[in-house]
Amino acid sequence: MDKANVCKILKIVGFILVVLLLGIVVVVYKLEHHTEVIPTQCKIVLNTENKLEKLQQSCINIPNEKKFDCFPRGIPDQNSCNLRGCCWSPIADFNKQIPSCYYPANFRSYKVTNVTKSIEGETLLLSITRQSVYPKNVKTLLVQISFETKSRLHIIIKDYENERFEPPYPQIPATKKTPETTDYIVLVDDDNFGFAVIRKYTRTVIFDTRNIGGFIFSDQLLQLSALISSKYIYGLGEQTNNFLLNTNWEEIALFNHDTTPKEHTNLYGSHPFYIAMEEGGFSHGVFLLNSNAMDIILQPAPAITYRPIGGILDFYFFLGPSPDNVIQQYTEIIGRPFLPPYWSLGFHLCRWGLKSLKDTMDLWERNRDAGIPFDVIWNDIDYMDNRNDFTISPNFTGLGDFVHQLHNIGMKYVIILDPGIASKLPSNTYPAYDEGIKQNIFIQNSSGLALEGIIWNYPKGTVFPDFTNPRTTSYWLQMLTKLYKEFQYDGLWLDMNEISNFVNGSIYGCDDNVLDNPPYLPKIHGERLNYLTLCMSAKHYIGFHYDVHNLYAFAESMVTNSALSLIRKKRPFVLSRATSPGIGHYAAHWTGDVLSTWDAMKHSVGDIISFNMFGIPMVGADICGYTGNTTKELCQRWFQLGAFYSFSRSHNSIKANDQDATAFGEEFILSTKKALEMRYRFLPYLYTLFWKANQYGESVIRPLFFEFPKDENTYTQNTQFLWGPGLLIIPVLQEKVISITSYFPQSIWFDAYTLESYESNGTYITISAPLDKIPLFLRAGYIIPYQEPSQTVEKSRKNPFGLYVTLNDTLQATGTMYWDDGDTVLSFSDQQYNLLEFNYNGTLMKSSVLTWNYETTMTLDTIYVMGLSNKFSQIFINGQNHSYFNYDSELKVG
Ligand code: NOJ
Repeated sequence: MDKANVCKILKIVGFILVVLLLGIVVVVYKLEHHTEVIPTQCKIVLNTENKLEKLQQSCINIPNEKKFDCFPRGIPDQNSCNLRGCCWSPIADFNKQIPSCYYPANFRSYKVTNVTKSIEGETLLLSITRQSVYPKNVKTLLVQISFETKSRLHIIIKDYENERFEPPYPQIPATKKTPETTDYIVLVDDDNFGFAVIRKYTRTVIFDTRNIGGFIFSDQLLQLSALISSKYIYGLGEQTNNFLLNTNWEEIALFNHDTTPKEHTNLYGSHPFYIAMEEGGFSHGVFLLNSNAMDIILQPAPAITYRPIGGILDFYFFLGPSPDNVIQQYTEIIGRPFLPPYWSLGFHLCRWGLKSLKDTMDLWERNRDAGIPFDVIWNDIDYMDNRNDFTISPNFTGLGDFVHQLHNIGMKYVIILDPGIASKLPSNTYPAYDEGIKQNIFIQNSSGLALEGIIWNYPKGTVFPDFTNPRTTSYWLQMLTKLYKEFQYDGLWLDMNEISNFVNGSIYGCDDNVLDNPPYLPKIHGERLNYLTLCMSAKHYIGFHYDVHNLYAFAESMVTNSALSLIRKKRPFVLSRATSPGIGHYAAHWTGDVLSTWDAMKHSVGDIISFNMFGIPMVGADICGYTGNTTKELCQRWFQLGAFYSFSRSHNSIKANDQDATAFGEEFILSTKKALEMRYRFLPYLYTLFWKANQYGESVIRPLFFEFPKDENTYTQNTQFLWGPGLLIIPVLQEKVISITSYFPQSIWFDAYTLESYESNGTYITISAPLDKIPLFLRAGYIIPYQEPSQTVEKSRKNPFGLYVTLNDTLQATGTMYWDDGDTVLSFSDQQYNLLEFNYNGTLMKSSVLTWNYETTMTLDTIYVMGLSNKFSQIFINGQNHSYFNYDSELKVG
């Protein structure tokens, strides 16, 4: 028997003995700390063959779905694969998804060398045991496990010796309060570092990095894989997907990028956040706070792999347990969504290609004349002179007067702004550039000069304000103030802020450097980091573009939001195309240049729900689509759906035919009016939802599973959505369809047009959806405030209120209403609002005033009570007998 075999036997005997001895201890200790028990005395010098043999042994029995790619974005062969210490087993997989080169079980890269425990968590030191093939592996890592709140766990893994980039936005508030008890347990493997997060109550392992995949922490590639608890996972955007994420080897690249939305392509925003449904209807969320470009891979185990190319691993786990709790916990750290001004909840009309003020006024007038509920008219880059920010085209002379006219009738005006400032105009003719150079606020190239790219500006040449530089705040305020003197815009639309660039890097290209050519390139569109954006080596105040790229829009939105409130002294409205975690505190979002197709319209449902999960509840797609020509029927259906986006705007590309509501004739106008009037009717409810989002982080638009988490049938529904808990919207998403078979979770549902009731035990029900109608249903158990609609929200706000009271099977219903002037910046914190609570308990409908500090007249006109089995015999209002009431015995509505 050779030395190696003796040792093998010794190992096995030793192992059995130790396991027996420690058996009892391990059972008790199991859920606290997991340590592999392996005798360490026996040093064996294996020859290469033995190594290979040993490797092969740890490669067998790894099922395909648990193979973690050891050669990502490369073409391995057996030799190169084995050199990485990985298993080689090519299989006939036509889609080339299952990795041929994968990590063996127990692949070790770091071990724990020191542990400090306290009631607040654990601190570990890790020491590298195997170098990855990527340059500059970090030798010593610091792991901080913090039990931050009962349902929030925070795990940071970073370089112990050197500082690395950490995103300064969002600013995470110091809300930590060491909890007495937690909903989670963390297990740590020492010898081969890994950790598991477990839901204490159900023992569900929700995230487990132990003994799988290759944990890597090198300078420009961090890799961490985990088994996850379920294949029902949502989020990880911005990408065009079917809402429920695909766990069949889906590679999701996150790196803000300007392109026409299509599947498998990184888009405008980056949100490394997902929410998962566990067995039993529990839900949790996982957030990686990291702003670098990254790949995230989902595989069928189910498992997830993160591969950011910089920064640190900074994970937050939110234990819910309900999906909406998860969003509340997430927005508690990234920032609650802003409370939009009330006017911005109205319908917005825009298009690119309104070449003059006359074109703009014509569009505005014909939609007003048609009676379309309509609050905000927009201009795209057409209003600028030569498409240069802070200038006005001669074709828009008189714009200031037009905006006054709009304001006089209670309407608003929003303009586009690109971040790029023209750099090639004669000196001293363009203050936006001259001042920017003087104040030294532009992003710099590696030589320290303002980096020049190309965007719309003429003459061609563009520089970019560095919004991470504190000096840019006053520069931007100065420019916006000057523009405001010309015409009084009400909101700002921030486009092209990924940053988009029409050349790669800069007009002079980029230096040859490791930031522009990293050792691992995520699977991004264009196959290079500086593709149609800036050089990664470009310099911002807070770091290289490599680290800051995904944060640019956040900084721009933050600075613009604050400038707008200072200038208008009213609540700001900012719309941003690029997004990242926390931007919802400052801005709304639209989903970019979507195609004018049925498919794009269908995808928009999942998109708007996902953005609600990302803490950006005010979101919509361009109604009727942006790129390409729409058709009448598509546009008619899209208007109906868009009337229920939380941000409702019709917008169109310069090349496409008109698609405003008047472009398709009388019958189209009528159905569009009908849908938008329904929106306007429900605005008091929508506004209250936004207030709840702002205060408590609740979502405004929700998928069915948020309200029915125990009903697994809801997990795959992606064609309908809810406003809050109480209003179900079922858009028609297919051509030539006039009835829909849709899933209704268990409840009584009331048709919002006819008040007819539908009782469901969790079944599919076929409902009629003629071309002029979007099906809407009220859910039993809620009291929803409404107002009769007028053509603008300013007028609607003056109409009497009504209540829809939908009784559930125990004849109960509840509701809330928040009301303020809709425009003051600090209405809530200054207590200038009214808060009402409604309750129906079978016989008594109670409206309680919780706060009444906003002096206004609010008249309650009509109350519909649905689900009443008997007619009221008498009605008392404030103790007085009231004679005016109706009862429809067929509908059971009073
Ligand atoms: C791209 C934006 O996504 C689009 O909405 C806008 O019309 C064009 N830029 C022109 O400004």
